[in-house]
Amino acid sequence: MSAGKNRVCPVTIAGSLDNRIRRWLQDPRKILGPYIKEGMTVLDVGCGPGFFSIDLAQMVGKSGRVIASDLQEGMLQKLSKKIQGTELEERIILHKCEKNRIGLSGNVDFVLAFYMVHEIPNQEDFFNEIKSILKPNGQVFIVEPPFHTSNTAFEETIAKARGAGFVSVERPKIFLNKAVILQKA
Ligand SMILES: C[S@@+](CC[C@H](N)C(=O)[O-])C[C@H]1O[C@@H](n2cnc3c(N)ncnc32)[C@H](O)[C@@H]1O
Repeated sequence: MSAGKNRVCPVTIAGSLDNRIRRWLQDPRKILGPYIKEGMTVLDVGCGPGFFSIDLAQMVGKSGRVIASDLQEGMLQKLSKKIQGTELEERIILHKCEKNRIGLSGNVDFVLAFYMVHEIPNQEDFFNEIKSILKPNGQVFIVEPPFHTSNTAFEETIAKARGAGFVSVERPKIFLNKAVILQKA
C-alpha cells in the first residue's frame, strides 16, 4: 500500500472542511437526523475541525455525549476553540487517537466516519476496534468522497467491515458521495 494512498488530510486545509458552502451541500442535520437521538453517545472518528461534531452535540442534547477523535492534535485544537466557553464544552469529549488505534473502550451507540476511512492504513483492524467500542446493534455511518475513493475501493471497505462482523443495512444518498450504514451483527 503506497504512503500516498492513505495520506492524512492536513490541518492547513481544515477551512475547506468547515464553511458555508459545505454546510449548504452537506447539512449535518439533514444527513444525520434520521440516525441520531437525544441521549446517545456518538463517536465522530476522524472528526477534523468538527464540522459534524458540533451539530451532533446539539442533536444528542444535554444527556448525550460526542467523542470527537482525531489523530491530529491541530484538528482537535480547532474544534476546541469553537466550543470554548459554550455549553457544548461539556458534551464533546476530545480524544487524540493513533494512526492504527482509536484507543477507546466503551459503550458507543453510533459512529460517524466521514471522509476518513480511505486515510486508514489497516481497515480490518479499524472495523474490529469499532466493533469492540459499539453497543449491540450499534451503527456506523461511513461516507467516502467521490474522487479519493473508487466504487471498487468502497465495496472493498464494506467487505472488510462484513469480515469484522458488520451487516450493511442502508445506502444513504449523499450527492456524489459513497455512503453506507453498517450495523453490528
Ligand atoms: C478529510 S478529513 C475529514 C474530517 C471530518 N470527518 C469532516 O468530514 O469534516 C479526515 C480526518 O481524519 C483524520 N484521520 C485520518 N486517519 C485517521 C486515523 N487513523 N484515526 C483517526 N483520525 C484519522 C485526519 O486527521 C483528518 O482530520
